[in-house]
Amino acid sequence: MRSARLRPISGRSGRPSCSARACCATCRSKNWRDFDTVVLVDLVHLASVRLWLTAKGYRNVRLIERDLSGYDDLAAGREPEPLGFLRTVPYLDFVVSANLLSQIGRGVKRRHEAEAGRMAEDTVERLIAAHLASLSGLSCRHCLVTDIAYAVIDRNGRTHEEADLLHGVSPPPAKAAWTWPVAPLGEESRDYRIEHKVIAAW
Ligand SMILES: C[S@@+](CC[C@H](N)C(=O)[O-])C[C@H]1O[C@@H](n2cnc3c(N)ncnc32)[C@H](O)[C@@H]1O
Repeated sequence: MRSARLRPISGRSGRPSCSARACCATCRSKNWRDFDTVVLVDLVHLASVRLWLTAKGYRNVRLIERDLSGYDDLAAGREPEPLGFLRTVPYLDFVVSANLLSQIGRGVKRRHEAEAGRMAEDTVERLIAAHLASLSGLSCRHCLVTDIAYAVIDRNGRTHEEADLLHGVSPPPAKAAWTWPVAPLGEESRDYRIEHKVIAAW
């Protein structure tokens, strides 16, 4: 069999407890073991994840801690290319950006607000767009799984609040889309539920 490598970008949980059906499929042990090497890149890998991987005997999984937002590059006046480092990886077959992009947006927004005046107004949008451009610029196969919007809906089905998690940046055309019931009715409140819209594109 040809040497295969899989690199899901981001994976703090390491377990299929997320919105990503595609990612969850790759999270199952049988599939992960089909690859020579699986590299999970995340800002932080918790000790619980390391323990879980050891307990499951995933010897082909490597963990890298890295900020994938591109914020520091932009702050230093450089063109952000947040996934550029993947070009140096030999035999890279497949990259998945799983449940990450909206989180990058949230983190960058928080940082941007905390450092008011330091960065351009369109920092969040630019870095979301940079992630999409960097992913689509990869020469290997790649897949994007991300939530793109959330809604707060009452028990009568009326939407009270909605937000675009990609801040106006258009994602690539979705090959699949589904609703992620983040907080079903009764979990956070008896009066409303929270749903995210998730897409997968490849
Ligand atoms: C919703 S969790 C998804 C975890 C995992 N990818 C999965 O599918 O189960 C979002 C992840 O994005 C990571 N993250 C957020 N901002 C990041 C950044 N700037 N660089 C790298 N990872 C980041 C978080 O640490 C967290 O693990």
